[in-house]
Amino acid sequence: MSARPLPDDPTATNLAWWQAAARAHRAATAGYYDPAPLLAGHDRLTAHEEAALARALPGGVQGRAVLHLQCHLALDGIKLARRGAAVTGLDFSSEALAGAADLAARCGVRLELVQADATALPPALRGRFDLVWATVGVITWHRDLGAWMRAAAAALRPGGRLVLHELHPLFTMPASTAPLVIDFPYLGGSGHAFAEAGTYAAPEAELGEGLNVSFAHGLGEVVTAAVEAGLGVLRLEEHLEVDFDPRGDLLTREADGAYRWRPGGPGSPPVPLLFTLVAAR
Ligand SMILES: C[S@@+](CC[C@H](N)C(=O)[O-])C[C@H]1O[C@@H](n2cnc3c(N)ncnc32)[C@H](O)[C@@H]1O
Repeated sequence: MSARPLPDDPTATNLAWWQAAARAHRAATAGYYDPAPLLAGHDRLTAHEEAALARALPGGVQGRAVLHLQCHLALDGIKLARRGAAVTGLDFSSEALAGAADLAARCGVRLELVQADATALPPALRGRFDLVWATVGVITWHRDLGAWMRAAAAALRPGGRLVLHELHPLFTMPASTAPLVIDFPYLGGSGHAFAEAGTYAAPEAELGEGLNVSFAHGLGEVVTAAVEAGLGVLRLEEHLEVDFDPRGDLLTREADGAYRWRPGGPGSPPVPLLFTLVAAR
């Protein structure tokens, strides 16, 4: 990844990048977007996601209305629909939604799919959902975190829950962990443009210039945005280990099978990689 000047319209730049990325991910036959496990009936989320879901909806998702926000190929949406939820997937990328529709059909699952910007939800989605589900790689694409949080809150019915399971801002800072190179701020909302070869899930994909723009949001800013959107924070958890490397190639797997990042070297304390916010409207 190399830094570039900020383009005039970061959302348009990101949409072009996501269209190309979604095309690459739809073609995957291995790795993160390999459809084979889903097609074979697999419906497990990660351990952190299962725990967050159980906290948000202790009675399960059966019969619940779920908005899978920035759903990409809707892997989680398909899993939740298999458990009996009525799932709406939303994304601004038509390629991602075409991939989601195709995968859902092949899995024999019905999803409602909506193309929209996550900060400008269609009025028909307001106040409708028991759960807004947003995971790993969603808020960084938005300059205005407050607008994102307000849209998520507005989609919930009173009493509904938001689960935001996201990259920890500490783990968004390094361009490389060995050697340690920091090229992204912890917080502040500033935008940074990078040209990237491939994607986190398809490193070999040809994405042209590969230009995309991300925005830094610290943990305090996330909680403040949730509170200012009228949400009650039920739980905020930081996770020191993950069962796959969500950024593709920055972590190494340890003897117990988990991935951690120990900036101080082997045996030193690990730092957080993900966080989970559970909030209620
Ligand atoms: C990293 S993916 C989310 C991954 C997803 N949770 C999964 O499990 O595959 C981010 C998604 O956000 C979408 N996205 C980025 N900016 C957006 C925006 N402004 N409005 C709506 N969707 C957006 C992208 O198209 C992409 O599908």
